[in-house]
Amino acid sequence: MKKNLNKNMIKRLIFVIVFVLIVVSVILIIQNTNKTEKALKKLGYSKEDITVITEKLSETDVEKVLDMEYNQKLASIISAQYYIPNNLDRYLAYSPKTDNIDDIISIVNVGADNEWYTNTEETNLDDGIKMLVNKYHYLNTDYLPDDIVEISNWYAYEGHSTKKEVYDKYVSMWKAANEEGLTLLVNSSYRTFEDQQNEYDMSNDDYASKPGFSEHQTGLALDIVTYNIIGNEFENTDEFKWLQKNAHKYGFILRYPKDKEHITGYNYESWHYRYLGKELATKVKESDLTYDEYYAYYCEYKKGC
Ligand code: DAL
Ligand code: ZN
Repeated sequence: MKKNLNKNMIKRLIFVIVFVLIVVSVILIIQNTNKTEKALKKLGYSKEDITVITEKLSETDVEKVLDMEYNQKLASIISAQYYIPNNLDRYLAYSPKTDNIDDIISIVNVGADNEWYTNTEETNLDDGIKMLVNKYHYLNTDYLPDDIVEISNWYAYEGHSTKKEVYDKYVSMWKAANEEGLTLLVNSSYRTFEDQQNEYDMSNDDYASKPGFSEHQTGLALDIVTYNIIGNEFENTDEFKWLQKNAHKYGFILRYPKDKEHITGYNYESWHYRYLGKELATKVKESDLTYDEYYAYYCEYKKGC
C-alpha cells in the first residue's frame, strides 16, 4: 500500500516538473521573440517587415540583422524567388547599388558583385554537358573535350568541329529548320585554349572571353547564323526567330541574351548557342533565367538540375 503511494507521488512529481519546464520554456521563447521584435522595431523595421524577417531568417541571421543598420530592402530581398540564404551578407552589401531587387539577387548569385574574372574557380567537369563556364568558372589550359567531330560544310562554314552529341542534335535542328525553308550556318564552334587567345586578342572583353573562360573550349557552344549576316543583324532574320521558338527542343539555349549583360558579363550575342541537352535547355528557357543564374540557384543551391 505504502509502496503504491510512493510510486504515485513520484509520477506526480515528474509530471509537475515536466509541466513547469514546458511553461518556463514557452515563457522564455515568448520573451525572446518579444525582445527580437522590439529590437527590430527599434532599428526601424515595420510590423510587416518583422513578420517576414522572423519567418524567413534563421536565428543566426536575425542576430546579424540586429547588428546592422536598418536596410529598407531587406524584407524584399529575403522574400525574392531566387534568394539563397548563404548569400545574405553579400545581398546586403550590394543593395545600395541598385533598387532592382531581382538584380541584387541575380548579380550576387552569379558572383558578379565581384569584378569580372576575380574570385574565379575551376569549372566542375563532373557536370558533363551541364558544366558552367563563365567569367568566374574556368577550364584549365590543357582541357580538351573528348568526342570532337568535324561539322560537314553542308551545315557550316569551312573548318568547324564540335562534340558528337552536339553535332547530331545540331544536324536534326538544321534539317527541321531547313524543312521550313531556312538555312542555319555555324560560323564558330570548338576552340582550343590557344584559339581563344587569338579570338580574345582580336576582340574585347564585352564580346570575347579570356582563354580558359570560353564556352567554346568545352565543345558545347556553336555560333549559329545564316548567309551574309554580320553580328546582331542575325536577330532580324527568320532563322533567329525560328531558333527562339525551337532551339531548346534540340538542347540549345541562347546563352547571352539582350539586357542581361550585367549578369552574363557579355554583350547580347544573338548567335551564340550553348548545348545543355533537351531537358535542361527546356527548363532554362522556361525559367527565363540566364544559365549563370539557373546554375547558381538550381544546380548549385538546390542541387538538382
Ligand atoms: N563570345 C563568347 C563570349 C566567347 O568568346 O566565348
Ligand atoms: Zn560564341
